Amino acid sequence: MEEVLRFYYASPRDPIGMQGDFYTSADLDPIFGYLLAKQFSEWAADFDAFTLVELGAGKGLLARDILQHCRLPYLILERSPAMRARQEQLLKNHDVEWVDELPIGLTGCIFSNEFFDALPVHRVVRRAGVLKEIYVDADFAEIEGELQEQINAPLGEGHIADINLEARHWIRQIAASLDRGYHLAIDYGYLRDEFYAQPRGTLMCYWHHQAVEDPYLRIGEQDITAHVNFSDLIEEGTDASLETVRFTTQMDYLIGLGILDEIAKLANAGDAASMARLVKVKNLILPGSMGERFKVLVQTKR
Ligand SMILES: C[S@@+](CC[C@H](N)C(=O)[O-])C[C@H]1O[C@@H](n2cnc3c(N)ncnc32)[C@H](O)[C@@H]1O
Repeated sequence: MEEVLRFYYASPRDPIGMQGDFYTSADLDPIFGYLLAKQFSEWAADFDAFTLVELGAGKGLLARDILQHCRLPYLILERSPAMRARQEQLLKNHDVEWVDELPIGLTGCIFSNEFFDALPVHRVVRRAGVLKEIYVDADFAEIEGELQEQINAPLGEGHIADINLEARHWIRQIAASLDRGYHLAIDYGYLRDEFYAQPRGTLMCYWHHQAVEDPYLRIGEQDITAHVNFSDLIEEGTDASLETVRFTTQMDYLIGLGILDEIAKLANAGDAASMARLVKVKNLILPGSMGERFKVLVQTKR
């Protein structure tokens, strides 16, 4: 899965946006970046220096929109050369530095939008009481075998879960990188009970904005994603001295940052362009959809 995702994000075809396979909150409207910029500025006010580090910056839209409203040092950690080239092009007039590793001794905020859900997962299933990992052979036929890594998953018999061990690894790296400051992750996912209540797991593929259940179709040409188990991120953070200060829905979080005022301004403007934006902006906080499926985790290191 790691190789397939690497290949997918290396493609010359842009996977993100209306012409791609999926869109993110950053694609919908610059208000998303504006509200995050407000959050970062509030946090930065308590520090002498404050650096932003974005993980997996996609096309660079979020960086562009954040930098429009707050002038803080900005680093991007992006693994895909193709995505990085798009970011460099879009951000050529902005003061952004690309890094291959998280810096040490950072004061600031490491953040991401839809980064953790793009990491490869281990698919496991319980058979006769024992956890097995689902592998594929050279022809992409599934084989159930012994676990290669230690995984504890409270699964019912025959149930599947997609375990993101890399997410835990990233949380440890983030904690090690931060001297003081914040980690903010926005992603779709659940806390543990809801996560393991999905009997078929949460692995899903996207191709030209269609949800596709079969990950063995169009290998390397469709996005593969899985919901984040935020309980893992919270627990791993606690072990690594990251204190969780907030876990909520995107709707709740953006309302707290003032999105309703922005919606009212668009409604009052009343022109066609503002109405078109209004429809998109409302999606960011729509209950039952992006507003609730996306969660926001804020951790801090004091
Ligand atoms: C779903 S996209 C999110 C894009 C962007 N954050 C947004 O909101 O539009 C995932 C991004 O993470 C990057 N990525 C995936 N795995 C990564 C890794 N291990 N290290 C750094 N970047 C990674 C991808 O290349 C892509 O830019």
